Amino acid sequence: MMAKDISYEEYSRQFLEQLPRGAFLTVQEGERLNTMTIGWGNIGYIWKMPVLTVMVRYSRHTHGLIEKAADFSVCLPAPGEMRKALAIAGSVSGRDVDKFKAAGVTPQPARTIQSPVIKECNLFFECRTVFRQAMDANLLDDTVRGNSYSSLDFHVMYYGQITACYRNDQEERETSGTTAKVPVLSS
Ligand SMILES: Cc1cc2nc3c(=O)[nH]c(=O)nc-3n(C[C@H](O)[C@H](O)[C@H](O)COP(=O)(O)O)c2cc1C
Repeated sequence: MMAKDISYEEYSRQFLEQLPRGAFLTVQEGERLNTMTIGWGNIGYIWKMPVLTVMVRYSRHTHGLIEKAADFSVCLPAPGEMRKALAIAGSVSGRDVDKFKAAGVTPQPARTIQSPVIKECNLFFECRTVFRQAMDANLLDDTVRGNSYSSLDFHVMYYGQITACYRNDQEERETSGTTAKVPVLSS
């Protein structure tokens, strides 16, 4: 894969535009590997570093992995692409099937973390978990609770220091199969 590093301003905009349409959250914990679709998250700057936050409900197979894993990746398709794969990764569970096969996506070694990235995507974030936060239902706004948590299946938030961020351009995805050796973004 030919990939280029991109700046904080560039990646946050593309992240926020694509996220509601779906992104792949991929986690490796020991031999266990899974990917699932996410639609909610945050990107920002805290603790003197760029941080990406994902939200995983207790019921997800991914929850058991990310609780023990050191890191995770978030990979976003190019606009309008990979809709079927996102739908599959967001509706079946890694408990029951190999989701990489089911969704037709390929885990590819990341640059800075153990969890892989999804090769077919366009925008990649590698994140080292620096904070985990279970939701305290007592602190939640009633309207949000009613709209999003009627089943009481709350989220746990995972805050990841962004250790690498890069993009895979369309032409490069079609013509290249190798990983570019480029410096990791640091800030
Ligand atoms: C567009 C979309 C966005 C989603 N966003 C989230 C999310 O942010 N957090 C979450 O816990 N589940 C989310 N889901 C649901 C999970 O992807 C789904 O339950 C998945 O099957 C869990 O897989 P797992 O059991 O292998 O972890 C989303 C699903 C879709 C289709």
